[in-house]
Amino acid sequence: MIRTGRAPASRSGRRRAGHPSKPALFLMLGLLASASMPLAAQAQGTGPNPLCAACHNPDGNSTIPENPKLAGLDAEYIAKQLADFRKHKRVSETMGPMAGQITEADIDVLAAYYSEQKPTPGVVTDPKLAAQGQVIYDEGIVGSAVPACSGCHNEDGSGTAKYPRLAGQHTAYMVQQMKNFKNGVRNNDIREVMSAVAKRMTEQEMKAVAEYIAGLKGGNP
Ligand code: HEC
Ligand code: HEC
Repeated sequence: MIRTGRAPASRSGRRRAGHPSKPALFLMLGLLASASMPLAAQAQGTGPNPLCAACHNPDGNSTIPENPKLAGLDAEYIAKQLADFRKHKRVSETMGPMAGQITEADIDVLAAYYSEQKPTPGVVTDPKLAAQGQVIYDEGIVGSAVPACSGCHNEDGSGTAKYPRLAGQHTAYMVQQMKNFKNGVRNNDIREVMSAVAKRMTEQEMKAVAEYIAGLKGGNP
């Protein structure tokens, strides 16, 4: 499965050696524009990278629940994820080939751009489920030794460079990532701190805590 991710990446790599591929050309134009345009103008326009905007929206506030919001994530966290996707340390059939099309230098530009965008609020559809999730988030699950999420991701979900911002993130994306940590599909967390948490949780607990996190403001008014 890892190989399916590699093939398109190397194909596009060869293409770039001759003529720039269309996405690469857009990327270059986008980066040229970003050098001369203030950030606010970029956010209203096409953003620095139309390739990423197709799935994450120009300002990084993806509206597709399976695609994470990137707006407001710490630049260091974004850069680590993109580097991990490139090295196939974090395996994704979707993001692997995308990260293969950008350079190391692009990573810093993209990480800085998305970290400075304002995240949109998340959507809570089930307040009762969110109330169950709040207990898990703030206190953990005593019976199964799950630590409080707030201990690492902050009480308001604002996160840090190492413990990503979660506030307002799509519930579908978060539940999928927790499942991935639990079954080992995602194992790029240093010292397996997040995997250890997810392995002790049921799917129902994951859904409840994600519902609560979607309503967190993470420092936004
Ligand atoms: C075809 C849709 C698609 C495109 C295009 C795309 N992404 Fe993604 N991106 C995804 C999906 C889906 C995930 C979740 C991957 C997983 O399951 O691990 C993701 C995950 C990410 C993450 C991890 C976020 C987190 O919270 O851990 C980052 C960072 C990211 N993408 C940046 C980018 C950048 C930068 C580009 C442009 C070079 C890009 N993406 C292009 C679909 C896309
Ligand atoms: C001991 C610290 C720690 C605790 C406690 C913790 N996490 Fe995490 N979590 C992490 C780290 C570290 C990562 C990111 C790993 C990486 O990719 O670098 C992460 C990543 C995540 C992600 C993926 C975010 C993304 O954008 O892809 C989700 C969702 C998440 N945690 C939810 C939770 C929930 C819910 C709890 C409580 C039940 C929790 N975490 C408790 C350390 C922690």
